[in-house]
Amino acid sequence: MRILLYTGKGGTGKSVISCATGVLTSSLGHETLVISSDPSHTLRDIFEASIREKPTRILSRLWALQVDPIKEVKEKYEVIYEYAASVFKARGLDETLAYEVASLPNMTPFIALLKLVDLVEEGGFDVIILDTVPSGEALKNLYLPSLLGSISRKLLRAGSYLLGVTKVIEPLIGAPTPSKEVILTDLKLIDKLEALKNYLTDDSITSLRLIANPDSFSIENMRRTYITSNLYNINVDLAIVNKVVPDEVSDPYFDQWKLNQKLYLDEAERAFYPLPVKRLKLFKSELKGLSKLEEAGNEMFKGEDPSKVYFKGKPIQIVKTDEGLKLIVKTPFLTSKELHEVERIGDELVVKVDTDVGEVRSFIPLPAIAYSMHLSTAKLLNGELHIYLSK
Ligand SMILES: Nc1ncnc2c1ncn2[C@@H]1O[C@H](COP(=O)(O)OP(=O)(O)O)[C@@H](O)[C@H]1O
Ligand SMILES: [Mg+2]
Repeated sequence: MRILLYTGKGGTGKSVISCATGVLTSSLGHETLVISSDPSHTLRDIFEASIREKPTRILSRLWALQVDPIKEVKEKYEVIYEYAASVFKARGLDETLAYEVASLPNMTPFIALLKLVDLVEEGGFDVIILDTVPSGEALKNLYLPSLLGSISRKLLRAGSYLLGVTKVIEPLIGAPTPSKEVILTDLKLIDKLEALKNYLTDDSITSLRLIANPDSFSIENMRRTYITSNLYNINVDLAIVNKVVPDEVSDPYFDQWKLNQKLYLDEAERAFYPLPVKRLKLFKSELKGLSKLEEAGNEMFKGEDPSKVYFKGKPIQIVKTDEGLKLIVKTPFLTSKELHEVERIGDELVVKVDTDVGEVRSFIPLPAIAYSMHLSTAKLLNGELHIYLSK
């Protein structure tokens, strides 16, 4: 059983690459499901078929499912939502605002992931591919149930015994007592988030894959995601640079584009090291329909099985020291002549490198434990950048 998650900025090609991967894995004999929770009906447009909210057959081993997060929340989690809103209202928030605050903005991408838990547990698929994944920061929410889980579970269970007997908690928490239904739904949600975290942090099951376009903004963003995912123990195994203008394009209008893209492709190799970096050309028109998807899959994976684990490991090693922390970043491309400076800006380290094309900056998001530390030294040692932080 494999879960493949594609992440990247909007428009970089997550949906089409998810579908292209699915076409390929299904042709290799894996029972494959592609899930999207895009609000627009992306899968329908890409597969050129109508897709339902349950697995819809596309090819003999290829299935697709479109999740409607709003509907899903309404059906499954409405009670919690209503309760959360009632708590805020009881605390004096205006009703409209209470509902606004209660609808966690980070929750939408999680709904597709929660659906994933159901599908994994029902079984039947060898490969499940998802095109909408919470951004790096939102991944934090995955850990909330583990931190709160054991306590809240006890409290919730204890609370559920009290229910119906008396509304004991109401004066204590200054809010309406959660109903039994709220508590049971809450418990189910906590269990599900916990199961989800277990699947996502198992590097034999889940691979997160980064999609960038050949531009500096998109690559830098994905490098941040790469490192943040690492902090949350989600294994990233592959990077794909999509929409590369192919060599056969000889119109001088595209000369500068091609030149810049070459530089960014080099940058991607460095930014995502040691991940394999695949590339996909910019097609002549929008990428949709099975035959183009098949072509895209073959170009990216060149006869390989995209469901394999391409890489296991961490881009950054975090070591506790007597003074604080040491971060070890593998940077085989970097020489001490090029390493210009390491600087701390807010919650990130900025590594400045002198290259032929000028100064290149690379960002390393710091783990929260390092927020109160300061940067003491940084040095290059055998292709690794050792960064020392102290309290
Ligand atoms: N390699 C490509 N060649 C041509 N068009 C592409 C390519 N990759 C993506 N597209 C087009 O770019 C648009 C955005 O792609 P999509 O997969 O929806 O991005 P995302 O899911 O990351 O927002 C779509 O119109 C898609 O057809
Ligand atoms: Mg999409």
